[in-house]
Amino acid sequence: MVTIEENFPLRQYNTLGINVSARYFARAENLGEIKEVLTHRECFPFYIIGGGSNILFTRDYNGLILQPAIKGIKITGNDHEQCMVEVGAGENWDDFVMWAVSNNLGGIENLSLIPGSTGSSPIQNIGAYGVEVKDVIEKVNYLDLETFELTSLSNSECNFGYRNSIFKTHLKNKVIITSVIFRLKHYPEYNITYGNLQEEIEKTGDISLERIRDAVIHIRRSRLPDPAIIGNAGSFFKNPVVDKIKAGEIEEQYDSMPSFPVSETQVKIPAGWLIEKCGWKGKRAGNAGVHEKQALVLVNYGNATGEEIKNLAMEIKESVCSRFMIQLEPEVNIV
Ligand code: FAD
Ligand code: EPU
Repeated sequence: MVTIEENFPLRQYNTLGINVSARYFARAENLGEIKEVLTHRECFPFYIIGGGSNILFTRDYNGLILQPAIKGIKITGNDHEQCMVEVGAGENWDDFVMWAVSNNLGGIENLSLIPGSTGSSPIQNIGAYGVEVKDVIEKVNYLDLETFELTSLSNSECNFGYRNSIFKTHLKNKVIITSVIFRLKHYPEYNITYGNLQEEIEKTGDISLERIRDAVIHIRRSRLPDPAIIGNAGSFFKNPVVDKIKAGEIEEQYDSMPSFPVSETQVKIPAGWLIEKCGWKGKRAGNAGVHEKQALVLVNYGNATGEEIKNLAMEIKESVCSRFMIQLEPEVNIV
């Protein structure tokens, strides 16, 4: 039987370290336990949590927080080229990356050190250093909360996009992801074109999955704050995609503007650059602040409330809009 705890503190369950509590909290270790928890309708509404690394709680949650903790890394198919691996939603993402690299399976090494659980990885199609998880997802298995049936979607049915998928649109709050099936490669094609990744790898010798992982970890540690030391949820906003004419207008004023092509007519502009140009980098407002090395990351200096972080985010959004006429969209889920 699953234990449902009452008045449960959530500070350790969200990487921003916001000190809120849930009226009820349950951790479910298998599908049966998830279904059992959901029969307790007196605890509703409910919200799913993985590692809490992409959530901003703005107040106590007056319902049930459910953490799917289904474990297991299982090889479900293998040939000379590729290996299919089914991973339980509750497996820590970076532990899975470490498992893949140590088994010489390629495809996710660039996604090293991203916090959170594997079940959350398809939701915003996690990405870093030129790779997105959609590149290796074969299938996503989930519990359909309307039919209570276990269902699955193929890669193309997930409608993956930049920090987006069907789980953030049509199926938002309608499913609980139980496991993800990945297609990993025995002879990977390395992807080391992003930023200074290649340079970092060359410092230590020949390229290998392990060296890519080490280099990514090294770069991330030098730029992103560690949530165990200072609360944060990674990039607070998505990088905006704008048409080339708009980007050209900004470039006329700032010739150093970085941008990345998205299509023939569109480019992505780093939101961190826009925020920095508005003067926010390293700024502090009470207990909330903008990270000194990465202006896209909002931090909790210790006792920030969710409202403080949200208000700072809204001020940043307004100032970017008034200077650049670009609307930033939060990447973080605000609850
Ligand atoms: P949570 O924050 O717990 O949940 C996120 C959302 O998914 C919520 O809406 C929740 O309800 C829902 N959800 C969670 N699990 C399930 C489930 N099993 N079924 C249905 N819904 C579910 N992201 C990147 O893409 N790239 C990065 O490089 C990156 N770097 C980061 C660095 C730092 C320091 C931090 C703190 C965050 C970073 N992130 C990055 C963001 C975050 O790590 C990812 O979005 C991650 O996938 C979130 O996983 P989680 O388990 O913590 O999800
Ligand atoms: N930049 C600035 N000032 C800043 C921050 C960035 O000018 O304060 C400029 C720099 O020119 C830099 C460029 O922005 O070269 C890109 O910066 P960085 O490589 O740090 O990446 P990012 O665009 O800020 C994105 C993801 C990260 C991911 C990195 C690496 C989004 C919203 N964020 O950040 O993902 O780790 O690329 O691939 O797409 C996350 O989603 O939580 C996250 C951390």
